Amino acid sequence: MTASASASAELPRLRVPFTLPALSTERLRLRPLTEDDVADVAAYQTRDDVVRYLPWPLRDRAASAQHTRERATLTSIAKTGDRAILAISKPAGDGRSRVIGDLTLIAASVPDAQLEIGWVLHPDFQGAGYASEAAGALLRLCFEQFGAHRVSARLDPRNGASAALCERLGMRREALFRHDIFFKGEWGDTAIYAILAEEWAARDPQAPRDSRRIVP
Ligand SMILES: CC(C)(COP(=O)(O)OP(=O)(O)OC[C@H]1O[C@@H](n2cnc3c(N)ncnc32)[C@H](O)[C@@H]1OP(=O)(O)O)[C@@H](O)C(=O)NCCC(=O)NCCS
Repeated sequence: MTASASASAELPRLRVPFTLPALSTERLRLRPLTEDDVADVAAYQTRDDVVRYLPWPLRDRAASAQHTRERATLTSIAKTGDRAILAISKPAGDGRSRVIGDLTLIAASVPDAQLEIGWVLHPDFQGAGYASEAAGALLRLCFEQFGAHRVSARLDPRNGASAALCERLGMRREALFRHDIFFKGEWGDTAIYAILAEEWAARDPQAPRDSRRIVP
């Protein structure tokens, strides 16, 4: 191997292309969205309280179904700007399961090994640690399999539940941009949270994030 080839092999870079795998956590199954999920997803996407801080319009069931069909095709990341979606599915006692939310992963920069994460959960399933469990599992994949150097989240700073989730996951608030977007009829602010690979590796292994109990 030449010196330049050896040096370039050490550059930080996402290990693209990659496909988000299906995986199980203690209480959840994470897997790609499918067309069969349209009703479950519409149950939360059509709610005003769910989309309030999301860059989503309030969709009716038909628009939500179309959106889910489009997002069901987003399973892999190959280049900067690509996004991939994982359904958060909760097994029910009768052997069936219900999609209670979803995770979005965005390749913010492949050469700089930067990923961005996003989340949404049906209100009936909030307050039980499911978002922490699901997002923790995805963060683990980001650092341990996909080669991320930094994973960030952007949110409306009024979204206390999302900020608390970031902090539960070990993300630090890095920035607050004032009036950087015109959002749902008014100027909005954006808070940036992030965690670095070394911060992820240094986490207390007993921290209640459940992401270590992953079954591929
Ligand atoms: C952001 C969002 C996903 C957070 O959901 P959440 O359920 O509050 O998040 P978590 O899974 O971390 O659950 C934490 C809550 O469960 C409780 N909990 C119960 N069991 C728990 C466990 N085993 N582990 C962790 N938390 C647990 C926590 O005490 C906490 O309760 P609290 O809110 O009363 O303090 C949710 O509010 C949401 O979907 N909002 C609408 C969409 C949205 O705004 N998305 C973000 C855009 S940036």
